[in-house]
Amino acid sequence: MKKILTPFVIKDMELKNRIVMPPMCMYSAKEDGLANPWHYSHYTTRAVGNVGLIIVEATAVSPEGRITDNDLGIWNDDQRDRLAAIVQAVQQLGSKIGIQLQHAGRKSQSAVLPHYSVSDQAFNREYIAPQKLKQEDYPMIADAFQQAAKRALEAGFDLIEIHGAHGYLLSEAISPLTRPELVLSERLKLLDQVIQAVKQVWPEQKPLQVRISASDWRDDGLSQTDLIQLAKHLKDLGVDSINVSSGGVSETAPRAFPGYQVPFSEIIKQHIDMATIAGGLINSIDMATEIIENRRADMVFLGRELLRNPYFVHQLARRFDVDDMVPTQYRRA
Ligand SMILES: Cc1cc2nc3c(=O)[nH]c(=O)nc-3n(C[C@H](O)[C@H](O)[C@H](O)COP(=O)(O)O)c2cc1C
Repeated sequence: MKKILTPFVIKDMELKNRIVMPPMCMYSAKEDGLANPWHYSHYTTRAVGNVGLIIVEATAVSPEGRITDNDLGIWNDDQRDRLAAIVQAVQQLGSKIGIQLQHAGRKSQSAVLPHYSVSDQAFNREYIAPQKLKQEDYPMIADAFQQAAKRALEAGFDLIEIHGAHGYLLSEAISPLTRPELVLSERLKLLDQVIQAVKQVWPEQKPLQVRISASDWRDDGLSQTDLIQLAKHLKDLGVDSINVSSGGVSETAPRAFPGYQVPFSEIIKQHIDMATIAGGLINSIDMATEIIENRRADMVFLGRELLRNPYFVHQLARRFDVDDMVPTQYRRA
């Protein structure tokens, strides 16, 4: 049996295989941030597809924390209840489901103001200038994440992923590009408060994950030493796994090619005993299998491939003759 089709356990969550659908914004909610039939069909289809772990798209902890006013939200009980219906269906179909909790910071384009940031500079000319958070404002952000985590628990999610990547609020706080005057431990203070607040309401036996931008793809950005220190710090704070992404703090784009982010996962695994999810432009059975077989990560994420092909896992299972990873209803296909 190929390892990619074997279970993986983090805390009380047992995944049936190592394939992860990473969070991907659908920009399909109305202003109320409620999940609708699009979201329900989208996520349950990947559960029929036997994806081990499905992570619901960036879901805002507050109205101004949305990237757009079409993002999902989790700042009220109606939003929680719509999400709960998706959670229940996905779990009944045998997949595990997490949610990415998000604050977009200065990369918000929501009509709700002000947009908060650790800087008073707009991201670029397409964005408006944010209101700079003082340290005494951090508890307000941490509290929004805590309330969201409480609702995520009530909705029945198996995992929380805190969005600490792609230049959104927590990510811009960490990067030296935004705050070159501060050392890493200072830049981590906002994320620290958010994690501590979430941990007060999220049960110890359920996994807590952070998505990070492991590199800014610039010499003056996050260094490899920073990455190792960041991962160690997350482990010390009780974070169970890292979803390894990159970029987004500045407009510098990565030199992207299949697997381009996997070496960051390897660096983390070489230095810290912690579960990682790696990916980026992975679109074939061979590429996904290689990453897991060679222990470069514990799980592999496939984003755009799973948008094109929700039944990637069925094809993987047929290739390696694993019958029970293809639903009986579809075996004659
Ligand atoms: C339509 C779309 C929406 C995305 N939305 C999110 C998001 O909500 N949160 C996030 O962390 N990454 C988001 N991403 C990035 C993906 O999770 C993933 O890291 C990226 O697409 C690279 O993986 P891939 O090459 O397998 O698609 C998005 C990507 C796409 C294509």
